[in-house]
Amino acid sequence: MGTLAFMISEFEVAGEIMNVLQDHDKIRTWLISAADSAISLPSKAVAKEGALRLRSAIDRAVPIPYEPQKQGALQSLGDVCDTPRAREFAELAGSLRWVESERWNDGGKERALCVLSDAFDLPGLEVGIMYVDSGCAYPIHNHPPQEVYLTISGTAQWRYGGSKTLVDVRPDSVLYNHPFDLHTVQAGDSPLVALYVLWGDEVIKS
Ligand SMILES: [Fe+2]
Repeated sequence: MGTLAFMISEFEVAGEIMNVLQDHDKIRTWLISAADSAISLPSKAVAKEGALRLRSAIDRAVPIPYEPQKQGALQSLGDVCDTPRAREFAELAGSLRWVESERWNDGGKERALCVLSDAFDLPGLEVGIMYVDSGCAYPIHNHPPQEVYLTISGTAQWRYGGSKTLVDVRPDSVLYNHPFDLHTVQAGDSPLVALYVLWGDEVIKS
């Protein structure tokens, strides 16, 4: 009995490790496609630099094991469907580790972050996915590192790039924030999903 129990537990552990590796492969593939898109879409050269850094780093980035975690905001995931990349994201989202935003104390009910630079070793980069439920906002903020966004799903109102006004931005758009630019986004009638990349000497991995 002891030997059988040991074998079962070994098998279960091996299965869990396989699942983790498979998820990393799917995330890596999705990130490569997103980075390629951000490089090819119209944007400032400096914004392309962030996408290029992600593209060159993600190919061989060492995976870091993680435990999937959900937040309440993701209950509206079924409304994320407006592009092929958005639909791929919706399939992946349940296997990701979602955390509350430290900028808004809502217990993850209206907005959540997936810090992908905690799932891959990406030196000098902070990479993640922002999810803001329909009708909700991500609070205005700034930070020393520059930042590029690739919008994945949801037409939303963004303030970015040093502007003081909100403008409508559709999925598959590239936005750039200089260091310390104040920026925010107000989701429209469907959830807002965006990939972000921060880079520069000021990026400190937590
Ligand atoms: Fe930001």
